[in-house]
Amino acid sequence: MPQSISDFFLKLTPFDFRLLSVIEILMAKYEVVPTEEIAAYMHYTEKKIKASLARLRSFKLIFMAQRHYLGAALSFIGYDALALKALVEKGIIAQIGPEIGAGKESNIRLAVNDEGTKFIIKMHRLGKLDFRATRRARAFIAEKRHISPLYESRLSAEREFKALSDLYGAGISVPQPIDQNRHVVAMHIIKGQDLYRIKKNEFQSEKEVMTLFENILYEMKQSVKQGYIHGDLSEYNIRLNEDNYPVFFDWPQFVKTESKQSNRILIRDIQNILNYFKKKFQITVSNPDELLKNILKT
Ligand SMILES: Nc1ncnc2c1ncn2[C@@H]1O[C@H](COP(=O)(O)OP(=O)(O)OP(=O)(O)O)[C@@H](O)[C@H]1O
Ligand SMILES: [Mg+2]
Repeated sequence: MPQSISDFFLKLTPFDFRLLSVIEILMAKYEVVPTEEIAAYMHYTEKKIKASLARLRSFKLIFMAQRHYLGAALSFIGYDALALKALVEKGIIAQIGPEIGAGKESNIRLAVNDEGTKFIIKMHRLGKLDFRATRRARAFIAEKRHISPLYESRLSAEREFKALSDLYGAGISVPQPIDQNRHVVAMHIIKGQDLYRIKKNEFQSEKEVMTLFENILYEMKQSVKQGYIHGDLSEYNIRLNEDNYPVFFDWPQFVKTESKQSNRILIRDIQNILNYFKKKFQITVSNPDELLKNILKT
């Protein structure tokens, strides 16, 4: 993110925000929305929205593109602004804090609620938005196979929120979800450390390592019981909380157990875990098939 979110939040007028959300609405129809259409939708002249468009652009909230018409499209930062504003208005977010991580497919920030409690906002970012690279000016809707990166990111956030809600509700060790808007998921912080960062000597004994291994398998089994397979489980998507208990996060790519590929994906998840324990702690399992059977047994 090139500048602090609170920065443009303070500088944007209600009119700017309205314009931003009109562009969002019209992007259901256009990849790049003609400014003429934006103005017409708002019952203004193009001249009247010009300064506001320039301001949105200067904050990198929109792209402007000259096709055979002049058009505008939301950037990820613009989409962030709309989602965060909605969460602020709903009373979920009181203040937005610093970015604490940028994964391949998301930006993670801290936020604070009215009571001063910190939590995580995960802004999904799937696909790449680059309007200079595309020359296509045709209406977006005509091309059904093409999913916009913004829409794809929203679907990903919706999937993650659904998984977290179901799993947390069933008592499985995942971050407690708070809310979701567009491509943004708000959830509780898992205090502790990512598993991949933990050094071998931070474990007191081999027994402690074995307990962790068993707890991970137990949580996998519990999620399978709820119909969920993580689909990207590894030391990179597990945190150890303050009691050293594993918490599984990063769920958007889950598969349901009834899906055709579920066994293959579950085997891959198990294999990732086995590889980690083998490489880091030289722990090997004599019968991995037995393990799989046990996890699948309800
Ligand atoms: N609820 C949470 N509590 C604490 N830290 C978190 C939480 N969610 C995410 N993080 C931190 O942010 C990082 C990225 O999160 P996550 O894996 O969900 O995003 P991602 O974009 O899918 O990342 P990647 O593509 O690298 O897997 C994690 O490694 C973790 O350190
Ligand atoms: Mg991850």
